[in-house]
Amino acid sequence: MKPLATFSLFATIFTVSFVYADNVQLSVSVAALAAPTSPQTDKPNFVFILSDDQDYEMDSLDYMPLLKKYIADEGTRFERHYATTAQCCPSRASLWTGKTTHNTNVTDVTPPHGAWVKFVARGLNEDYFPIWLTNNGYNAYYTGKFQNGQDRSNYGKDRAHALMKGWTSADVLLEPYTYNYNQPGMKRDKADFHQYNNYTTDLISSKGIKYINEAHEAGKPFFVGIAPIAPHVQTWPAGRNVTPTPPERLPISAPRHSHMFPNVTVPPTKNFNPNKTSAGGWVQKLPKLDTCELDRANKFYRRRLQALQAVDELVEAVIQALDDLELLNNTYVIYTTDNGYHIGQHRIPAGKGCAYETDVHIPFMVRGPGVDKGVNRTDVVTNHVDVAPTLLTLAGIPLSPHDFDGTPMPITKAGEAAHVAHEHVGIEFWGEPVFEGAAEDIDHSKFKNNTYKALRIMGNGENTFNLGYIVWCNGDHELYDMTLDPYQTDNLMPAMSSGNATITIGGESYSVKKVRDRLDGLVQAVRKCDNGACVKPWSTLHTNGNVSTLADAMNTEFDDYYDSLAKMKYERCYPYYNAAAEGPVPKPFNSWDES
Ligand SMILES: *[C@@H]1O[C@H](CO)[C@@H](O)[C@H](O)[C@H]1NC(C)=O
Ligand SMILES: *[C@@H]1O[C@H](CO)[C@@H](O)[C@H](O)[C@H]1NC(C)=O
Ligand SMILES: *[C@@H]1O[C@H](CO)[C@@H](O)[C@H](O)[C@H]1NC(C)=O
Ligand SMILES: *[C@@H]1O[C@H](CO)[C@@H](O)[C@H](O)[C@H]1NC(C)=O
Ligand SMILES: *[C@@H]1O[C@H](CO)[C@@H](O)[C@H](O)[C@H]1NC(C)=O
Ligand SMILES: *[C@@H]1O[C@H](CO)[C@@H](O)[C@H](O)[C@H]1NC(C)=O
Ligand SMILES: *[C@@H]1O[C@H](CO)[C@@H](O)[C@H](O)[C@H]1NC(C)=O
Ligand SMILES: *[C@@H]1O[C@H](CO)[C@@H](O)[C@H](O)[C@H]1NC(C)=O
Ligand SMILES: *[C@@H]1O[C@H](CO)[C@@H](O)[C@H](O)[C@H]1NC(C)=O
Repeated sequence: MKPLATFSLFATIFTVSFVYADNVQLSVSVAALAAPTSPQTDKPNFVFILSDDQDYEMDSLDYMPLLKKYIADEGTRFERHYATTAQCCPSRASLWTGKTTHNTNVTDVTPPHGAWVKFVARGLNEDYFPIWLTNNGYNAYYTGKFQNGQDRSNYGKDRAHALMKGWTSADVLLEPYTYNYNQPGMKRDKADFHQYNNYTTDLISSKGIKYINEAHEAGKPFFVGIAPIAPHVQTWPAGRNVTPTPPERLPISAPRHSHMFPNVTVPPTKNFNPNKTSAGGWVQKLPKLDTCELDRANKFYRRRLQALQAVDELVEAVIQALDDLELLNNTYVIYTTDNGYHIGQHRIPAGKGCAYETDVHIPFMVRGPGVDKGVNRTDVVTNHVDVAPTLLTLAGIPLSPHDFDGTPMPITKAGEAAHVAHEHVGIEFWGEPVFEGAAEDIDHSKFKNNTYKALRIMGNGENTFNLGYIVWCNGDHELYDMTLDPYQTDNLMPAMSSGNATITIGGESYSVKKVRDRLDGLVQAVRKCDNGACVKPWSTLHTNGNVSTLADAMNTEFDDYYDSLAKMKYERCYPYYNAAAEGPVPKPFNSWDES
């Protein structure tokens, strides 16, 4: 048994951890040579609040006044923040590893391609965020939902379903009670499973605050993750006997909020249940929602807003707890979600998993030491694989030796310095999305081929442009000029063949074809993230580094190169990540042979 040693120097403590192949971890701390350093308490703390399935595009933030008061107004909103995979388990795996889904390979919400067993089997439970923190002098706590497939029958009972490693303590929701709003079931570390009669968000709030107090007493800098399920739909695993009553398949509010927003309906944006669609894949075949489905959509929407009210109160309770302990000025409080949501946009029944703005664009805001107050950042494009390196940077923990697919967000001066500016987000998906808000008898086989690669890419100031590009596994394509078409209702790909439509980038007008050629090169450049390629993808196509933006790439000098590149194409629709089915990665410009 050969130990792998990791060494970390933190303040005056020298920690040596041996991680053995059988996963037993031994830590030996010895006093290091006397070195005058600042005490550990100078390190900032973190409270990370993660809601579930919360949209940005359907205005959910407008219904959370306490979140606005305590975090947005006291901190910075990152207005161009994206999920890289719009599905809870893949997105959460990316969040806590800093790796894109094709690298975690946690691609689904259930086994065999996703959920907790895949996370463990891929070795991620041995090498992820809480481990990096606790190896560097932090305590780390987590309560709420982590991954699907953590089940009362097996969680922590064998190696395949190991307990979550790295956390000083973790008290997590377990199936079949994870998404049960009024009878949640949880397990704290090795203690027995316990089922509660408390409203889930209030329970998670009280446990989060208990952890903040425990962390404070422990006297080390800390991270507390608080992950309520709201506004996710109430659900339960197929075929599982859920007692005492089969729950209602809607988001459920606390009783004190169930009267709120009686007349509110899904915002009637241009993409809501449209008369015409030019979408690709299975979306183009969807019929319009009928009156009954529209009623369901509006009820679903109201229920989500009602369920978010207890999350809003959770935010206030967290801030008050930190204030009571006089920790507020040294604590980053972050608020975000795992993925966005749609209800009837593009005619799609309530759910997530699509590449549309509704599903990938998400809230992200933060307050804390050195964070500008009341600011909206629209000048940077950020995403969930940036989060782990961002938090480590704020904690003053080196990013090496980890191979992150993201770059630290410019939250503070240190983050500004470490941030690599980029315009794009690479988005990917394999297999079937989940439409929990659809009628129970919906034919799921229609949605199975939801495998795609997509891009969101946008520029600022003089370089203004805003594009969305989707390549479906069945060969369909969608391209939206979101400066003119923010709701993605006018796919430019059909117009491309007419040679008529144009797109403006950096004040210059280009044919749709020329832009699409570049975007296709870019979507392929982010298929692999080796050597930082997902942060600086243009440099894999232009290895001498003279192209770093879409405007640079539009140079007519590169027209023939991009025209000649084989377009992104799937061999066929696989329900899991199969790199070989995605074709060869394009050759860089410098080694391209014009003949
Ligand atoms: C990813 O997982 C799938 C099964 O879900 C497997 O077939 C594939 O080989 C894995 N790919 C990589 C690169 O690990
Ligand atoms: C659950 O609810 C009961 C009754 O309101 C309350 O006394 C208890 O403190 C709650 N438990 C937790 C862990 O919040
Ligand atoms: C909701 O609509 C009903 C019927 O149109 C109306 O009577 C009621 O005042 C409205 N409620 C609110 C809070 O706007
Ligand atoms: C959609 O179609 C309906 C029924 O034909 C019509 O009443 C409505 O005006 C149309 N909406 C738009 C935005 O064209
Ligand atoms: C935070 O506030 C406490 C007490 O209110 C004070 O002692 C401490 O110096 C402050 N820390 C920072 C980093 O401002
Ligand atoms: C930030 O954006 C939100 C939502 O669009 C808006 O309500 C708020 O006023 C903006 N704040 C600033 C400082 O621009
Ligand atoms: C080209 O654009 C013009 C003006 O917008 C439009 O009238 C014409 O129908 C378009 N031609 C094609 C082939 O789409
Ligand atoms: C970029 O570099 C390549 C290779 O050195 C060169 O051929 C090309 O002219 C340069 N293009 C621009 C726009 O700088
Ligand atoms: C899904 O894709 C597979 C393989 O590409 C194809 O055989 C199948 O017919 C497609 N299913 C649907 C419902 O489109």
